[in-house]
Amino acid sequence: MRLDVVTIFGEYLQPLQLSLIGKAQAEGLLDVRVHDLREHTHDRHRTVDAPPYGGGAGLLMKPEPWGEALDAILADPPEGADPRGPVLVVPSPVGEVFSQRAAVELAAEPWLVFACGRYEGIDARVVEHYGTRIRVREVSLGDYVLNGGEVAVLAITEAVARLLPGVIGNAASLTEESHAPEHDGLLEHPAYTKPASWRGLDVPAVLAGGNHGAVDRWRRDQALRRTATRRPDVLARLDPARCDRRDLAVLAELGWTPGEHGFQVEPAAVADWADTNEP
Ligand code: ADE
Repeated sequence: MRLDVVTIFGEYLQPLQLSLIGKAQAEGLLDVRVHDLREHTHDRHRTVDAPPYGGGAGLLMKPEPWGEALDAILADPPEGADPRGPVLVVPSPVGEVFSQRAAVELAAEPWLVFACGRYEGIDARVVEHYGTRIRVREVSLGDYVLNGGEVAVLAITEAVARLLPGVIGNAASLTEESHAPEHDGLLEHPAYTKPASWRGLDVPAVLAGGNHGAVDRWRRDQALRRTATRRPDVLARLDPARCDRRDLAVLAELGWTPGEHGFQVEPAAVADWADTNEP
């Protein structure tokens, strides 16, 4: 997979040389190219920003350096690129919220281009223009504001690259983790290792009992409970057709009942969740 990243802070992307993502690059599974936006300016100060039309706080990134930088990247496609070109990912607090599903979709692409905004973002015509030429996704890491797109690129790249064949040694770990479709999108069960007892806390007996069926059932119960109590938004989207009678009993105990498209909860259970999650 080829990743092109356009930024004014190339050093921010240095962590991509480390750990599994660094190894994936060394092995040729991933080709990361970082481009300096300022290379596409033509004034003495290498200006990339200007005040917004209409007034307001802060500075915006001017469109011309972006146009030049992105056109240069598009003119140099990797072998085996999609005829539609790359997906242009623009990290932004106004984008779709990034998810495991989005990571899976992006991991299926041979070529991604990231545009890292700084200041108050990039002139809106850049997304509008490239949206007529290639596929563009504005992506948010969550409902908070970062100083720029670089940290989002690190997070998105890590989530995507670990899904590529060969990047993670044990592929089974990908299907057993939180948010995995194979796991019905549920949060992962709690996990324990040696010693069996630590500071007066014992590992649940069922995990050391050698009964694999009982272990699977315990883990499923825990995943359902955790998701229902910590992430009611995720539980509400669980497909009732994926649930057995025991699942339904566990959820019923927590106030959740299957509906036409997902699960509903008694209002009291949501109030409990809000009590424990709001400041
Ligand atoms: N840039 C600024 N805030 C962001 C966010 N929440 N997600 C992605 N990119 C951003």
